[in-house]
Amino acid sequence: MSDPLRLELNDGRTIPQIGLGVWRTPDDVAVTAVRAALEAGYRHVDTAAMYQNEAGVGQGLRASGVPREAVFVTTKLWNDDQGYDRALRALDASLQRLGLDYLDLWLIHWPSPRRGLYAETWKALVRAREEGRAKSIGVSNFEVEHLDRIIGETGVTPVINQIECHPRFQQRRLREANLERGVRTESWSPLGQGQLLSDPVIGAIAEKHGRTPAQVIIRWHIDSGLVVIPKSVHPDRIVQNFDVAGFSLDADDMARIEALDDPDGRIGANPMTAAF
Ligand SMILES: NC(=O)c1ccc[n+]([C@@H]2O[C@H](COP(=O)([O-])OP(=O)(O)OC[C@H]3O[C@@H](n4cnc5c(N)ncnc54)[C@H](OP(=O)(O)O)[C@@H]3O)[C@@H](O)[C@H]2O)c1
Repeated sequence: MSDPLRLELNDGRTIPQIGLGVWRTPDDVAVTAVRAALEAGYRHVDTAAMYQNEAGVGQGLRASGVPREAVFVTTKLWNDDQGYDRALRALDASLQRLGLDYLDLWLIHWPSPRRGLYAETWKALVRAREEGRAKSIGVSNFEVEHLDRIIGETGVTPVINQIECHPRFQQRRLREANLERGVRTESWSPLGQGQLLSDPVIGAIAEKHGRTPAQVIIRWHIDSGLVVIPKSVHPDRIVQNFDVAGFSLDADDMARIEALDDPDGRIGANPMTAAF
């Protein structure tokens, strides 16, 4: 399998455009899923302290035999650990569970505006980057006002904003705002947590190209310039989700997928009002 596509980040580093998501993947299953993904050619894994599987992710990395420096590992700071000192302690704990001495990308998982701590927390991420314990730093679920506040207070722009994004909730306004600030958009729940795989429009496009619905949706993310982290625990699907070279969506396919966008299509929490 050829080297995965990579996208440039605003700090001069690059990120493999496709990664394996491991939410709702228990520790022992994460070991086999991560190993299967790396054997299939993935070089990027997306976990979080909240997923409680960082240890399994680290074991899967080592079991694959792929060198540490060849893999892009992301984890996220959970909301309860926001605040400068707590965040830095949480980083120690994440690194220890992963069995790593640095992260490729550390994200603030949610802004959690009701806590009022995300700007102070961002300063801890800046420090972690200065210390080399996180090579790149970014955010997740940030709206424009949250981005502008942390950039304004520190002068440091996140490399990534990882947000809910899939054909039924395309987030065009926030993607545009990210782009204007030099922030890459990374799509979480890119397959709509599997719900979009039975959509008839996606099904028709898949049939036209002789591909699966999952491959068509992942191709849409790639052709839209997004970083994409589909989750599966099944080796055959893990392989399938990475096998998206060799076909492309034409203008008609793209227009039909763009028409699936729905202002009420959000599946996850609204970052402005989330209670956690
Ligand atoms: N930052 C955040 O707040 C946030 C929030 C949510 C998710 N995320 C990240 O985004 C990742 C992906 O999102 P997600 O896990 O919510 O959902 P997703 O990737 O949109 O969809 C995963 C679902 O689709 C199924 N699936 C995957 N590939 C398939 C295929 N080829 N054929 C049929 N079914 C397939 C999976 O089942 P099987 O596993 O049984 O194959 C699973 O049920 C997460 O794992 C996590 O890393 C981040």
